[in-house]
Amino acid sequence: MDRETRLRVAIQKSGRLTDPTLELLNLCGLKLSRGKDQLFGFGENLPLDVLFVRDDDIPDLVHEDVCELGVLGLNVLEERRLEMIARGHEARFEVLRHLDFGRCRLALAVPEDFEFRGVESLRGRRIATTYPFTLARWLSERNITADIVTLSGAVEIAPRLGRADLICDLVSTGSTLQANHLREVETVLESHAVIIRTPVALSAFKADWVERLMMRVGGVEQVKGSKYIMLHAPRSALPAIRRLLPGSESPTILPLDGADDRVAIHAVCRENVFWETLESLKKAGASSLLVLPVEKMLA
Ligand code: PRP
Ligand code: ZN
Repeated sequence: MDRETRLRVAIQKSGRLTDPTLELLNLCGLKLSRGKDQLFGFGENLPLDVLFVRDDDIPDLVHEDVCELGVLGLNVLEERRLEMIARGHEARFEVLRHLDFGRCRLALAVPEDFEFRGVESLRGRRIATTYPFTLARWLSERNITADIVTLSGAVEIAPRLGRADLICDLVSTGSTLQANHLREVETVLESHAVIIRTPVALSAFKADWVERLMMRVGGVEQVKGSKYIMLHAPRSALPAIRRLLPGSESPTILPLDGADDRVAIHAVCRENVFWETLESLKKAGASSLLVLPVEKMLA
């Protein structure tokens, strides 16, 4: 592929972030052609291709400028950043944008019979994790010395196998912990998806496309929680109705033909519009209420 004129974005091949990332790119207008199980997705209509990789590989791919952009969890980024610093390397990661998906947390979890009485209970314990650097920082910030057992996976069964007293692992729904009779006791890191970029300077062409893409991402994220609402109301009810519209800036007020005392109100609400809100609006005098999804938005 032409490295001069095409951007490369590294995304998670299969996991928590894959579907929402592909959906985001799709909403940004990208049409991707991708053969079954292929590592490479070709952008048909934008100068942008997608590399499907293990999420743990994304920090290095972007740091080494193999890909200009990467979408990954803050947890993976932070762990790699701390590892590089610990090994005496420079970690030049730049987060371009925080995204509204992939929420999860790195947490400490103990077996049911473990008596946990605050962080002091961790002193001298063996903690299994795939995030040794993030855990080490958290422990040292609390002046706790513990034995970090670094594993490459299946952390949740380590206590049962006698390899550790407790674990430090990613939790999103909590079902993995539940299935393994583990109880969450402390949060080590809150995480969500982010977009990172290469530390290497971009050509004007690529920089322009990165900027356009970020604008579109911003638009997509804004649209998610937004609704367009239309209603009719008596002029006298205007102040009350404006107060009830959730998160709207300046609504458009239109005269209604043949009815001097009534107007139509159109507004973008930056929050979801619930049934309760519609009911309150109706009580305040509104009628012909209509709530529409917002498809695109560009400030
Ligand atoms: C994490 C973690 C658990 C699971 C927790 O793995 O190791 O297995 O997710 O999720 P839950 O609370 O919804 O059950 P992840 O999918 O991130 O795999 P990876 O570390 O191999 O990328
Ligand atoms: Zn992973």
